[in-house]
Amino acid sequence: MTRVAVFPGSFDPMTNAHLDVAQRASGLFDRLVIGVLNNPKKQPLFDIDERVDLIRRSVAGLGDHVSVDAFDGLTVDFAQRHGAGFIVRGLRAVSDFEAELQMALTNRKLAPGVDTTFLMTALEYGYVSSSLAKEVARFGGDVTPMLPPPVAEALTERLRTEPRV
Ligand code: PNS
Repeated sequence: MTRVAVFPGSFDPMTNAHLDVAQRASGLFDRLVIGVLNNPKKQPLFDIDERVDLIRRSVAGLGDHVSVDAFDGLTVDFAQRHGAGFIVRGLRAVSDFEAELQMALTNRKLAPGVDTTFLMTALEYGYVSSSLAKEVARFGGDVTPMLPPPVAEALTERLRTEPRV
């Protein structure tokens, strides 16, 4: 049986915490599709094509069984389109759990055949989030410990000319 999982997220942008989860999941599933949510209600720093491209460059070393795709609408529909029986989400701390539980139970109600699996992020990335990295970069801090190299470069470049908030 082929085990297929999707790893959905906003990924604005991908962090080392996300990459760590993708790497762990890539060892567990036969196929892993990283799904980048295109949410028209949100104004991301990186548009959907940029986010997909940055993830593709960041996960290039994980193997051919890992792919990246944009999606809109429901995560469970995206999972089913890819023939996935699993959704992967990362947990950094207990504070992530409540929202993740609600999402997992909602997704189970919507699609009982799709199970959510949680992977613990490496301890060293437990503090990392996309919004924190953007804030640090905005004020000129070093984001290289938090982000895959292509993302750190793109973020620093993107914010170089942007006014500080
Ligand atoms: O990286 P994020 O922002 O924590 O990811 C959240 C995401 C994209 C997984 C979640 O918002 C999502 O699944 N959105 C798609 C809409 C959906 O399926 N909603 C019902 C389940 S919560």
